[in-house]
Amino acid sequence: MSKRDERVRAREEHAKLGEEIAAHDRAYYQNDAPIISDAEYDALRQRYQALEAEFPELVDENSLSRTVGAAPAEKFAKVAHAVPMLSLGNIFSDEELEDFVARVKRFLGLDPQAEVAFTAEPKIDGLSCSLRYEKGVLVSAATRGDGLVGEDVTANVRTIADIPQKLAGAPPEIIDVRGEVYMSHSDFAALNERQAAAEKPLFANPRNAAAGSLRQLDANITAQRPLKFFAYAWGELVWGAAEPAPPADTQMGVIAAFRDFGFTVNPLTILCRSAAEMLAHFRDIESRRAALGYDIDGVVYKVNDLALQQRLGFVSRAPRWATAHKFPAEKAISVVRDIEIQVGRTGVLTPVARLDPVTVGGVVVSNATLHNEDEITRKDIRVGDSVIVQRAGDVIPQILGIVPEKRPEGAKPYEFPHVCPACGSAAVREIDAKTGEAEAARRCTGTLVCPAQAVERLRHFCSRNAFDIEGLGDKQIAFFYDKGLIGAPADIFTLQRRDRESLTKIENFEGFGKVSTRKLFAAIEARREIALNRFIFALGIRHVGETNAIRLARSFETFDALRETARHATPGSEARRRINDIDGIGEVVAEAVADFFVEPHNERALDALLAEVRILPMEALKSDSPVAGKTVVFTGSLEKMTRDEAKAMAERLGAKVSSSVSKKTDLVIAGADAGSKLAKARELGVEVIDEDGWLALVGGA
Ligand code: IVH
Repeated sequence: MSKRDERVRAREEHAKLGEEIAAHDRAYYQNDAPIISDAEYDALRQRYQALEAEFPELVDENSLSRTVGAAPAEKFAKVAHAVPMLSLGNIFSDEELEDFVARVKRFLGLDPQAEVAFTAEPKIDGLSCSLRYEKGVLVSAATRGDGLVGEDVTANVRTIADIPQKLAGAPPEIIDVRGEVYMSHSDFAALNERQAAAEKPLFANPRNAAAGSLRQLDANITAQRPLKFFAYAWGELVWGAAEPAPPADTQMGVIAAFRDFGFTVNPLTILCRSAAEMLAHFRDIESRRAALGYDIDGVVYKVNDLALQQRLGFVSRAPRWATAHKFPAEKAISVVRDIEIQVGRTGVLTPVARLDPVTVGGVVVSNATLHNEDEITRKDIRVGDSVIVQRAGDVIPQILGIVPEKRPEGAKPYEFPHVCPACGSAAVREIDAKTGEAEAARRCTGTLVCPAQAVERLRHFCSRNAFDIEGLGDKQIAFFYDKGLIGAPADIFTLQRRDRESLTKIENFEGFGKVSTRKLFAAIEARREIALNRFIFALGIRHVGETNAIRLARSFETFDALRETARHATPGSEARRRINDIDGIGEVVAEAVADFFVEPHNERALDALLAEVRILPMEALKSDSPVAGKTVVFTGSLEKMTRDEAKAMAERLGAKVSSSVSKKTDLVIAGADAGSKLAKARELGVEVIDEDGWLALVGGA
């Protein structure tokens, strides 16, 4: 395969993966109903990132690797911690707590009955941060990183209200104040509401939201995120000559000094004199956990006397003088009343268990995801079964398994539906081409008719490289769908006719008006004729992107020929082979094409659509374009198209799109606020044009 083909393939795969990952993100974060396991999800992410590593031009502002969770760590300057940021050992039981206390005493050569004081405080579930103050002034801030070297987040930290820029009182010469950056439950909920309103991805939990907010390249974004900070530890500490000397010979003393400096310290920090007291405090904090208003995942105990801390020292990367007592994953037993199937926006069927409401760790749970068909079979979960429900930290509830002895008589194994509950079309499990095994997810094939998929499909149908209907963007589609005016593709083309006969005219809807309504109708009319490849692409058949649409169009020449073959393309048939044999199209695509055309619901929707539009022969692929073979760079913000569209357009015309300007660059298209790339182009004497110049050059391709 030529390098160019490879790039085209990589781009296609990247886009597909991007869609898939985004769909899984929505399933997980928004619908509380993941479709795949964490490991499968990680594998998708890894492949996505590997593609970007190999083809850096794939990384743009829309890349998922720029969004939730995966902040581009390499973009932050590195900061070496003067004193390493340690982690903590974990304990999980009362016995382990006794052992910890006994071990400390043994190490110090103390009598087992001797009294050693420990502080006990909540373990905050955020991300730790080290703040360096010199002469009381904040000079830098770093994340933990690997404990030795972290990322410089100084500008971001300066936006956090809990963190003083200048220390109050009598601060030391130098101090690294350490603590946890976190987000409260209410701020987290409000942030996600704002994200949802802006159609941006939601954060999974307050910790991710805090991490994502702190590790922003643009501190202005951090400033809009309500982050908080608890100070609980320190790194380098040089008290200097300041008088009076602060009370710094105990952990509690330093924490009190932190408070005097202007930090927030956790009010649930107390001093304990025995394992029994520590345990009592652990139980107390555990019982208040749900009402704290922020996530904690345990209690941290620290030897109070700093001289003893010094003597105890460290084992590998954790102090001997401290440990984290973790809360157990919370579990409860409930009864499965029903198993419901949700259909996601991409047609995946996800089973959800409806449970008798039960409190798990302070939260009432009445639904739990069952992931997929195989998961139900593996755990043999039946309606009526008593099940063990677990909520670990903040993750969505899972069903660990059933309580076999409580199974009611006559409970029947669950039969996963083979039709989509939303539209009645067949729901199929694809065979993975590599492993030959059925995929975990069962998918609805009623692409054109399924209400669960409708909005997503309509968006695709109207998108630039499909029907390209101006004025029917995401918002308008959702609007018309909600109003019941557009449900299936054909409805777009009957909209004007129906509007003429309707009493509630579109022009009277808010945001429309006479002019834009007329424009919209004109834009729709202009697309009643469409090239075959675009038409095939617009149908949204699984695995049929632009390239495969072109392959099918080229091979069949007419839509009727494709349809006739595909509707008979049962496995092993001559027709299936005919599709399968097309260069570049394999079994997976052939199966998806057949599934689509075999589905009677789609057939009817297609007939309706074909009554409205006329299909023209395949588009001439414009390799005679003036930009064919040229290396182009887009920079600045474009107004008439997105960066992705511009790139796709350039590539369709045979140009190579690069992300950086060099001597090899033929043309730079500079939008508004173009910066260093534009300067570089000027310096190298590369031709620069604006967006309109580009559109003129490519003839509105
Ligand atoms: S003390 C040498 N105290 O837990 C002791 N850590 O598992 C350093 N954490 O990286 C940590 N709350 O991010 C300490 N009250 C607390 C804490 C706390 C949360 C985190 C911190 C650390 C991790 C270790």
